[in-house]
Order: sequence, then structure tokens, then C-alpha cells
Amino acid sequence: MFVKERCSHFTMLPVGMRVLFTGTLVVLGVGYLFAMIHIFASHAGHDGDPGLSVNDLVIAYSGSKEDTKLEAALKGPMAGMLPQEERDEIVAWVRRGALKEEYVAQPTSPDIASSQKIRPISAIIGQRCIACHNGANPHVPDFNNYDGVMATVALDTGMDIFTLVRVSHIHLFGITFIFFLTGSIFCHAYIKPVWLKCLILGIPFVAIVMDIGSWYLTKIYPPFAWVVMISGGLMGLAFAAQLTISIYQMWLYKLPSKILESGGYVSE
Ligand code: HEC
Repeated sequence: MFVKERCSHFTMLPVGMRVLFTGTLVVLGVGYLFAMIHIFASHAGHDGDPGLSVNDLVIAYSGSKEDTKLEAALKGPMAGMLPQEERDEIVAWVRRGALKEEYVAQPTSPDIASSQKIRPISAIIGQRCIACHNGANPHVPDFNNYDGVMATVALDTGMDIFTLVRVSHIHLFGITFIFFLTGSIFCHAYIKPVWLKCLILGIPFVAIVMDIGSWYLTKIYPPFAWVVMISGGLMGLAFAAQLTISIYQMWLYKLPSKILESGGYVSE
């Protein structure tokens, strides 16, 4: 393939324009750093391990079946209130979906009877918890009935759809602006082969669509958190490449004399 394109290289631009470009890129770069800090601060460590992992993203977008108040309390401050096996029983019930028919009264169906070896959850709560959780103190959850217990069992289902929609439109507009700016500047760089230049320019737009699409898909199928992670990484790489190559070529790079002589025509 023969590509001949006009390349008004950075070094052919007025110095004022290069100052403008450099300022824009540097401040956007600092902005990018803060965006990374924000992502880290809001998502890292949710799965119990420090650092940002795919699991943290799964929890952020699709929630965690282990993160109910009840379970946290049973593993933490309330752990001493009941024997281990009864605790496991309650946790297992929560993870099965905290069904009402499994909560109240004696197990009737054989299914439930076999899954509930000891006794109904309501009986455990009645014996071990009601003494304090009797509704007398407004700061202590009231466990007199199923709904009271359920108030501490609300499953964490991750970011809700409205939040996702709001964050999506902000990201789609914002990130398009950013990469239009950095890309317009990067267009003045001399990169061979031309397809590589086009790749660095085009990837962020593909990545942002993949990224945001995967937020929703992670709700349905958690492994999509990998796509969130990978597309975020691709965007970061493209951003870093555009920024460093542009600033380097603006101030330090010497354009090959052949290109310079031909008035900025790049042929391949
Ligand atoms: C000796 C009294 C006492 C007993 C028995 C007791 N709790 Fe509590 N519980 C408290 C108090 C006081 C609080 C509120 C202060 C706090 O959060 O630590 C509380 C808070 C909680 C919370 C809310 C925690 C939060 O994050 O808001 C849950 C859930 C809970 N208890 C579950 C249980 C369960 C389940 C049992 C029975 C196995 C139980 N508790 C037995 C005194 C008790």
C-alpha cells in the first residue's frame, strides 16, 4: 500500500502553538493521574486484598454476595453471640438468598429440611439475638420479625443502573473530548508506519465504548470485569504514548532531513 500524506510536523508549527499544545498535554496528564488515584481510592481493596484487582471491579459493578451487614456483623462484633455452627447456618441461609420460607417456623419441605440441619433461622435468632435486638433500642436493628432481619440482609448488587447511566454519559462526553484534544495534537507527530499512528489515535475510542459497555455486562456476567480492566489499560497506554511522543517530538526530536526537504510529505 502506498500512503502519501501531508504531515505538518510539530517542528514546522509556530512556537506559540507548541507552548499551547504542551500546556494542554501536561495539565491533561496531571488530570489523568488524579483520575487513576480516584479509581484506586474508590475500588481498591473491596475484595479484602489491598490493590486494585478484577475482583474489586466485579464487586463495584455487580456487587458481592458476601457483603451484607448481617454477615459482616456475624464475622465481626456479633461473632461471640452464638456457636460457630449456628453462625455458619445463618451465613449459608443469607447466601442462599435469605428466603422467608427458610426463615420462619420448622422446615416443612424435605428440601429445606435437608439444607437446614439444625433448626430454622428464626429460632436461632430468637434464642441468640432477640435479647438485645428486640426493637427497644433504635440503634440496634430490630429482629422481632423477618423484615427486620432482612433490613440487614440487603444484598449488595453493585452500582445501580441510574448511577451507571449518569457516569456513562459523563465518561462518553468527557473522554471523547480528552482524546479529541490529545489526538488532534498527536496528529502532528511523525510516526512510521502510518497504521501505527492510526492505531494509537483510534484505540481510545474503541476502548471507551468497550469499557462502558462492560460496566453493564459485568452486572450480567462478572468476567466482563476483565474487559473493563483491559480497555482501561489500553486507554492509558494510548494516552501515555500520545502525550510523551508529542512532547518529545515538539521540543527534542529532529525530523529526518528527507521528510523536512520534501516539505513534510511522509511516504511509505
Ligand atoms: C448482648 C447484646 C447483643 C446480642 C446478643 C446480639 N447483638 Fe447484634 N448488636 C448489638 C448492639 C448493641 C448493636 C449496635 C451497635 C453495633 O453496631 O455494634 C448490634 C448490631 C448488630 C447488627 C448491625 C451492625 C451494623 O453494621 O449496623 C447486626 C447485623 C447484628 N447486631 C446482628 C446480630 C445477630 C445476628 C445476633 C445473634 C446471633 C446478635 N446481633 C446478637 C447487641 C447485641
